[in-house]
Amino acid sequence: MKVFSTLVSFLTAAVAVSASPAQHAARDVWTPRVLYPHSGTVWYSGQRHNVTWDLSSQPVNITNNNGFILLRSGTFETPVIVGYGFLLTSGRVEITVPDVLSRSDYSLVLFGDSGNWGEEFTINGPIPGL
Ligand SMILES: *[C@@H]1O[C@H](CO)[C@@H](O)[C@H](O)[C@H]1NC(C)=O
Ligand SMILES: *[C@@H]1O[C@H](CO)[C@@H](O)[C@H](O)[C@H]1NC(C)=O
Repeated sequence: MKVFSTLVSFLTAAVAVSASPAQHAARDVWTPRVLYPHSGTVWYSGQRHNVTWDLSSQPVNITNNNGFILLRSGTFETPVIVGYGFLLTSGRVEITVPDVLSRSDYSLVLFGDSGNWGEEFTINGPIPGL
């Protein structure tokens, strides 16, 4: 469930990245599992919710504790930022559900060092029937 390699390929295509494999090996890559929202969750645009994730596998040293959350639809990672400016070690962040089309195949991708997406859930958007 890691999208880091996808992100890296994307970034590599966009800019000339000179990444050293040795630097990578030294990092603690931590991808905490998203606990909420999960399968069966239904959100409405404009609502406030706490996104939560599993802190049980937390490494001693975290390379990048600054988290952000993107919205994913099916297998497509959207550019919609659901949350940012929080610490991964906090285990939760309160977010506002964005205005989107109503769909039942949304999931959230939690980023720190890497990305990890949760189960699919539903967002009911602001436009009836869309
Ligand atoms: C999110 O969690 C915090 C801490 O438990 C709580 O104070 C807050 O009311 C929660 N927000 C929502 C929208 O449930
Ligand atoms: C964590 O970082 C500290 C300070 O850099 C270091 O002394 C310690 O050995 C590291 N621990 C692990 C498990 O990597």
